[in-house]
Amino acid sequence: MTEIVTLPQVNWDQPRSAAEQQEAIAAIESGKVLLFPQLDFPLAVAESRICSSASTGDAKNISFDPVRRVLRGGNTSAAELNLLESMMTRFAALSATLVGHLFPRYVPSLQQARTSFRPVEIAGRPSSWRKDDTRLHVDSFPSSPTQGRRILRLFSNVNPAGRGRMWRLGEPFEEVARRYVPSIPKPVRGVSRTLEALGITKTRRSEYDHYMLSLHDRMKADLPYQSAAKQQRHEFPAGSTWLVYTDQVSHAAMSGQYLLEQTFHLPVDAMLDPSQSPLRILERLLGRRLT
Ligand code: SIN
Ligand code: FE
Repeated sequence: MTEIVTLPQVNWDQPRSAAEQQEAIAAIESGKVLLFPQLDFPLAVAESRICSSASTGDAKNISFDPVRRVLRGGNTSAAELNLLESMMTRFAALSATLVGHLFPRYVPSLQQARTSFRPVEIAGRPSSWRKDDTRLHVDSFPSSPTQGRRILRLFSNVNPAGRGRMWRLGEPFEEVARRYVPSIPKPVRGVSRTLEALGITKTRRSEYDHYMLSLHDRMKADLPYQSAAKQQRHEFPAGSTWLVYTDQVSHAAMSGQYLLEQTFHLPVDAMLDPSQSPLRILERLLGRRLT
C-alpha cells in the first residue's frame, strides 16, 4: 500500500521546520506520496479560460523548458502562448521554491527539468500501450536517459470545474523489480552508442536506463498484472498539489483534466538514503554497477 502523507501547508513560499523537513524527506525517499490538499496553484482569470476551452488543440502535453524558456506543443494563438508561458513560468518558480523549502539538502544538486501542462481528459484518450499512462508503470522515457538520476515530480490539479484526478498506486519498487528483472535480458552491446549516434536518445542510455525502460514496458504490457497487482485508487482533488518520485512509485492516471507538472532530476548521491533509489535497488538485485 502506497502511503499518502498529508501536509497542511497553504503557501508555496513557507519555510519548514527541521522536523518537518526530516519527515518530508524520509517519506518521499521511502516511496510515499506527499500531498498538500490545500495548496492550490492560483490561476489568473485569463489562464483559467485556457483550462476550460479546447483551445490548446489536441496536444497531450504542452511542455516548457523553464531554463531556456522554450514552449512546445499545442496549436494555439500567440495570445494564448503568452498566457501559457506566464502560467508555466510562475508554476516552475513556485515549484522550485516549495521543493527548496522541503528538501534543502537537495538544493545544490537538484536540476529543474521540464514543466508541463496537460489539458486533455485522460479517460478514453487513445494511446499506444507503451504511452498509455492509465496502466501502472514507473517512469522511464526512451529518448531521455537519466543515468541513474532520480525523477521527482510535482503535480497541481488546476481543474477549474473542481474535478479530481484519479490515480492508481501500485506495489513498492523492490517488489516490481523482483518480479520482472530476472527475465529482462542484458542490453545488447553497442546498441546504446548507436541510439545516441542516431539521435534517438538525447544522451547515452546506461544499463540503468535499459532496466528502467524494460520495467516500464513489462509492467504496461502485462494485462493480468495490471488488474491483479496490489493497488489502490486515490483521487487528487482540484486545488491540491502532490510530490512523488515517479521513477519509484508505481502509478497510473485514470481520469482527470488540466494538470500542471514540474519535473526535477536529482543525482542519487544527493539523497539522504541513496539505498532506497531504483538505481541502488536494481544494482543490489543484479549484483553489479549499472551506471
Ligand atoms: C503519469 O505520470 O503517468 C501521468 C500522471 C498524470 O498525468 O496525472
Ligand atoms: Fe508516469
